[in-house]
This record gives sequence, structure tokens and C-alpha cells, in this order.
Amino acid sequence: MLEISEVMCYNTEVKILAIESSCDETAAAIISGDPSSKNGKAELLSNVVVSQIDIFKSYGGVIPEVAARSHLEAILPVVHQAFSEAGLTKKGQDDWSQIDAIAVTHTPGLLGSLLIGTLTARTLAILHDKPLYAVHHLKSHIYANWLAVNEDEKQPQFPLLSLVVSGGHTQIIRMDEHNHFEIIGTTMDDAVGECYDKIAKILGLPYPGGPSIARAAKNGDPDKYKLPIPQIKDLDFSFSGLKTAVLRAVQKELGVPISFPSHELAGKLTEQQKADFAASFQKTATKILLNKLEKALEMYPDTKSIVIAGGVSANEDLRKTALAKFGNKTEVFFPALKFAGDNAAMVGAAAFYEIASGVSPTDPYKLNIMPRSEII
Ligand SMILES: Nc1ncnc2c1ncn2[C@@H]1O[C@H](COP(=O)(O)OP(=O)(O)OP(=O)(O)O)[C@@H](O)[C@H]1O
Ligand SMILES: [Mg+2]
Repeated sequence: MLEISEVMCYNTEVKILAIESSCDETAAAIISGDPSSKNGKAELLSNVVVSQIDIFKSYGGVIPEVAARSHLEAILPVVHQAFSEAGLTKKGQDDWSQIDAIAVTHTPGLLGSLLIGTLTARTLAILHDKPLYAVHHLKSHIYANWLAVNEDEKQPQFPLLSLVVSGGHTQIIRMDEHNHFEIIGTTMDDAVGECYDKIAKILGLPYPGGPSIARAAKNGDPDKYKLPIPQIKDLDFSFSGLKTAVLRAVQKELGVPISFPSHELAGKLTEQQKADFAASFQKTATKILLNKLEKALEMYPDTKSIVIAGGVSANEDLRKTALAKFGNKTEVFFPALKFAGDNAAMVGAAAFYEIASGVSPTDPYKLNIMPRSEII
């Protein structure tokens, strides 16, 4: 087994195999870079994502047990493909001599899904004698913004504020330097991505809800329905009220009582009504998020960059409005669209900056998984 002291003084290029399986994407990636310079960049050698969206489309949401079983089937072929796409196979075999470390998402996520990724990573770490880095999923979403698509792309500057908007989280996180996170705002109830998904269901739009709402909203009037902005203290958020507000507005529009079954509402709505509800909701969700970000910027005037992260960061309305609102004063970063949702390249990037910051690897025999963990 590698000694920890040996592991912590990389002063040359390292190749990291990263694994992600926290929800319904089975992913592996290999990144390479020199972490001895803290501001060094990592290069992506391969990035393989197998999504379970097709399985869950017909259910309208993720079934945790089914997700775990799908991860189990996909994980080893996905890891092999990551080696192959990185050019790291020898006579069809994965060349483990080229890999210096393994990184894996260990929290937060679905228990069964996390279990498959972490068991795979632990086993591979023990089998091939590699240091193992257990990475927090939100850290990875934030570090998706360091995955440059072009050579000369700028990187975010510290101190920064990150707005993390995903299926399970809505947070504002302050970073003074690499691998240093302070959560300064969080949702009191639902996440914004969950709200997108639930409202899409009410409107009868296909899973996953975020992209469906964004598509429908293109033909809708964002000012047609007035929806409330929750008055939550400080930098915290709430999205459960917005979800109910849309439900009530749909019921009112259709002239049905609140006891009317919600799964029968969509069949009564015209395409135009769906588009108008989608556009009105999207505009309100963006406004809630960016109002809080504006408040955070007022509280932290030394902020040099804004980093938007997580699946909802793919949203075009959020991107355009954030750039228009903040872009002339502060640099605004979004991940490339392919890195906005769950993927392993971002896990590799997060591990790269953990190594650069001197974080010790985890004992693969003792690695714990946690469905939820606020400690990032
Ligand atoms: N274009 C879009 N507009 C709005 N929301 C979107 C868009 N694309 C994806 N989403 C939303 O992003 C969410 C998925 O993001 P992500 O994969 O980061 O979440 P997760 O991994 O399930 O949760 P977490 O990262 O909090 O553990 C879903 O709620 C999805 O509807
Ligand atoms: Mg995620």
C-alpha cells in the first residue's frame, strides 16, 4: 500500500481516474495535470457518462433501487471505456500503471447509487494499490467550472461566490481559496432543480423537468402569471411555496377546485397555457436565485468571480439573466453544458485541487458513504 506521505508530495503530472454514481448517471473520467502548482490546470483525457434517463422517462422520476442496479451493470464497462478513450489500454487491457490516484463521489446522493461507485473505487484502489480520494458531490459541481474546454480559457478568481443549483441542492458558497468552502445560504426546503422537475410533472412535460420547462418556456409569456417571491431571511432560499403557487395558479386557470387530482391537470391544459406557465415559473425561479446572489455580492464586496454550478446551471434564462445582471462588474462563470449535470470529469477536477491543496487520501477500507452531508 502507498504511504500517505508518499502520496502527498506529487511534484509531477498525475493521472486521476474519477468515478461518479450519486444519482442516475454512471460516469468515469481520466484527468491529468501537475498539482504541484496550486493554479495548475488539469487536462481531460476521457469522459464517459451513461445516463439512466431513458429508463426513468416512463416513470417520471428516479427509482433508487433501479438506479443502483443499473449502476452495477454499467460501472465496469464505463471505467474500461474511460481507459480506452484516454488511450490508456494495452492489448485491450486497462493500463493501471498509468494511473496515480482514484477519486469517487462518496456524498451526498442516493444510498444504493453511492454504494456501487464507492465499492468499485475502493476495490480498484486496493487491487491496484492506488490512493483514493473521496469527493463531495457539490464540490465536484463547483469544480466543473475549472474544466477548460479551450486552452486559453480563463479560470475563476478568489474570493468567489458559487451559486449551486442542482436536483438536490440550492446553496450559495463562498470560497477564499481552492478547497475552502463556506456555505452562506441554503434552501430551507426543496431544491430549485426539484421544483423544476415537480412543476414539469404538473404541466405534463417529460422527465427530466428542467430541460422540458426551458424548451416549453421559449413559446410562452413569462409575465402571464404572477408568482410569489418568497421572503426568506438572509441568504437562504425556499422553493416549496413556488411549487404550490404554480399548482394553485393552474387550478385557478382551469376553474377546478384544489381537491382536483393534480395528475389530471395536464390533460386539460393547452400547449400555450403550458408554455406560459413554464415561462412564468422559469422567470420567477431565476429571479429568486439571482436576487439572493445580488444580496450575497453586497455582503461580500471583495468577490472577484461568480461561479454557477449544478444541473440547473444549464438553464439558458439563468445564464443570460446572470450575465446581464452581474457581468459588467464581476466575471460570471458557468460550466460547459456537458459538465453541468452529473459527470466524473468534475469529480476528477475536484480531486485534482484536493491534491493540490495537500488533502490526504482516504483509507479505502474505512471509506464511509453518506446520503446527505452538508460538510463540503
Ligand atoms: N436546462 C435546464 N434548466 C433547468 N433545470 C435543468 C436544466 N437541465 C437540467 N436541469 C435540472 O438539473 C437537475 C439535475 O441536476 P444535477 O444532476 O446536478 O442534480 P442531482 O445530481 O440529481 O442532485 P445533486 O447534485 O444536488 O445531488 C434536475 O432537477 C434537472 O431538471
Ligand atoms: Mg448532481
